[in-house]
Amino acid sequence: MLTGAPWLLAHESMLTVNQPRKVFLYGADYVMWKDASGAVHALPNVCPHMGAMLSEGWCEVQSNGTSNVVCPFHALQFDSDGCTTLPGSGNKTLPQLQPLELIIQGNFIWSYGGCEPKIPIPEILNEFAAQYEFIGFTGDRSVKTDLLTMLLNMHDYNHQNGTHRTLFEIQEVQFKQFIDRGHHSHAYYDMPRTKSKLQDILKNPAILALPKIISAHLENFFPALVIFHGKSPIATIKQCHLFIPESETHTRTYVLMFGKAHSPIVHLLKQNILKLADLVINQDADILGKIYPDTPQKIKLNNEVGMDWVRRNFESFPDVVEPNLSK
Ligand code: FES
Ligand SMILES: [Fe+2]
Repeated sequence: MLTGAPWLLAHESMLTVNQPRKVFLYGADYVMWKDASGAVHALPNVCPHMGAMLSEGWCEVQSNGTSNVVCPFHALQFDSDGCTTLPGSGNKTLPQLQPLELIIQGNFIWSYGGCEPKIPIPEILNEFAAQYEFIGFTGDRSVKTDLLTMLLNMHDYNHQNGTHRTLFEIQEVQFKQFIDRGHHSHAYYDMPRTKSKLQDILKNPAILALPKIISAHLENFFPALVIFHGKSPIATIKQCHLFIPESETHTRTYVLMFGKAHSPIVHLLKQNILKLADLVINQDADILGKIYPDTPQKIKLNNEVGMDWVRRNFESFPDVVEPNLSK
């Protein structure tokens, strides 16, 4: 599960004020909540009294404006340090739960899961936040697959041919270039499309924003982030795919969308653009559930360089070893 890598657990907009949310990382469960000031906290999800899930409880606002999470079983309250106040004596205890260490950068909530950091947090999301409009998040899903399989799918430039074929009317994938910079890489390929049929446009109006040839530029930050740089006459889109190893068997993924409109029509399409990304993730999650795990790969296709990049980085993590995979 690549301990020592940073994972983006959430964008602040994914949390509702004073509503506990359950998050998983490295096989552990946490309760995460945001108070009215926007401060985000996370504690192990197990109540130290009798083991109830704190994420099933609620938040209690304090006089200073912060909030505590309240256990749904016997209503013990825990502050962000994991301390509780005992009913009766009214004494505040020492921390009973060790908070999960979060690194907050603007609206981005990162964590190393309490492990020693081995690689840095990518800067690029902060740049997007400064330069583009935040359109929203979508496709938040826990997929029953391991991290490696999830990443292989994301860096598989041939799966558009099958998994996403009908959605985008893709004719073929014309691979152009791969630039390997260790844990950072770029992939460029073109996908000519057949003309969208009216019924498809009605179903997914966002495909109106797609050009005749989708020129894909993927920018990858191993292991947690893949960015689809999309450009069409009506909009520039930065579609950021995030990954989180919830456990050995489950991997969470979601999309954060940033963009710049070049035409007012984009504002009407916003929800549809998010819906389209959601559909894409649905298709990926679906196929990942229909693969026999640990099947030895006997056939290799052209342009599997992205997957080679994932495998190399996975095996040598946190180091980067030869070969250089640029082509
Ligand atoms: S189990 Fe949480 S207060 Fe009792
Ligand atoms: Fe996909």
